[in-house]
Amino acid sequence: MNIGIIGLGYVGLTTAAVLAELNHHVICVDNDSGKIGRLRQGIVPIYEPGLEECITRHCQDGRLLFSDRMEDGFGGCQVIFITVGTPPLDNGSPDLSALSAVIIELANRIRSFTLIVIKSTVPPGTCEWVAKTLLDIGVDPTQYDVASNPEFLREGTALHDMLHPDRIVIGVRTERAASLLREVYTGIDTIYTVTSLSASEMIKYASNAFLAAKISFVNELSRVCDALGVDVAEVSAGMSQDVRIGPHFLQAGLGYGGSCFPKDVGALYHAAVSRGVAMPILRAVKEINDTQVDWCIDKLSESFGDFEEHRQVAVWGATFKPDTDDIRESRAVLLMKKLTESGYQVHAYDPLVKPEVPHVWWFNDMYDALVHCDALIIATEWSLFQDVDWSEVTKRMKGNLLFDGRNFIDRKKAEEAGLRYLGVGRP
Ligand code: UGA
Repeated sequence: MNIGIIGLGYVGLTTAAVLAELNHHVICVDNDSGKIGRLRQGIVPIYEPGLEECITRHCQDGRLLFSDRMEDGFGGCQVIFITVGTPPLDNGSPDLSALSAVIIELANRIRSFTLIVIKSTVPPGTCEWVAKTLLDIGVDPTQYDVASNPEFLREGTALHDMLHPDRIVIGVRTERAASLLREVYTGIDTIYTVTSLSASEMIKYASNAFLAAKISFVNELSRVCDALGVDVAEVSAGMSQDVRIGPHFLQAGLGYGGSCFPKDVGALYHAAVSRGVAMPILRAVKEINDTQVDWCIDKLSESFGDFEEHRQVAVWGATFKPDTDDIRESRAVLLMKKLTESGYQVHAYDPLVKPEVPHVWWFNDMYDALVHCDALIIATEWSLFQDVDWSEVTKRMKGNLLFDGRNFIDRKKAEEAGLRYLGVGRP
């Protein structure tokens, strides 16, 4: 099938690669001509394991084409996925201006029946609005349909998640749209959840908000575990074995970041309160996340036991999670900012990025970052931090405090090397 994709961020690029993998011919459009130029040379603008190889392979076999503008008729594409960004506005609601601009331009390019699939995360009612906008512009309603097909991939495992999804959610108005989307995904072994347009849009927000709630719940639990001298990691592990609870998203830490959870929690909250619906659980989810870094800094400061100005600490990890170069809403970066504001001197290391954070000194080597430091804080759970030589860490540091902000270090090994281990909600 010939398929179009408009908007080449994480979701757009991964969708393009996976659809090419499924033997479709994919025309990818983005209005950033610099990005298109680089993609044509095989340079992928984001770090995502396996993505560059996959895109390069399918550029060479002609399954992927990149363009900075929509052509008339859009290359005979029967299905066009829209994967443009919907970043948050100041009030928390999503900015739909990119989507709106694409729909208006697309309206003038439709020459034969086209299924327009909204993959961007959008509030319930947006797909209906797209269908109505096309009608208002004068597009023949027999020549198009609109569907919702939210994406559930995680950064760092994007290709795997899209090729092996738990389910594919499709919101449709017609059987024709549903069967076209099933045809698109032929080759992927999963179940389909077929719903109305707005239920499909809501499933995406509800899923992300629920996962964020699990994280905030376990982070809140970490605070009471800390007060009661209970290890939250043991508690999570015990809860996980109940199939009704499950093992995922119960890892206490510095809180959730990234381009999705903070944005989607905010958007759902805004959608509710702007219609007079209070969402106290969601408000608390956000509140706990907003204060978790401060809570961790308080724990760190308390554990020094005495007051000394200009303490030096090393922070390992800057991205919002491992295996990505994405620092959007990163708790690690927030931690660095708040540490410097609290008077700490911060040395930092990350295997992929060195974001500009005022007063933070970046190092190319993780051990070099430790020199003169009173404490080491693990802020992102990159697997290389698990395999470190802890005796070398102890040798390089001035102090011996290890704050595991992600509860993922082998505590015994670190303690055997002489480090004083402090976790999130771990006595
Ligand atoms: C998230 C969802 O997991 C995807 O299903 C969804 O498609 C995506 O948002 C999106 O809406 O596009 P992502 O933001 O890539 O994916 O990353 P996650 O793996 O979900 O992690 C989000 C944040 O939660 C990270 O900062 C991570 O460190 C934190 N987290 C995760 C915890 O603090 N504890 C956990 O137990 C799990």
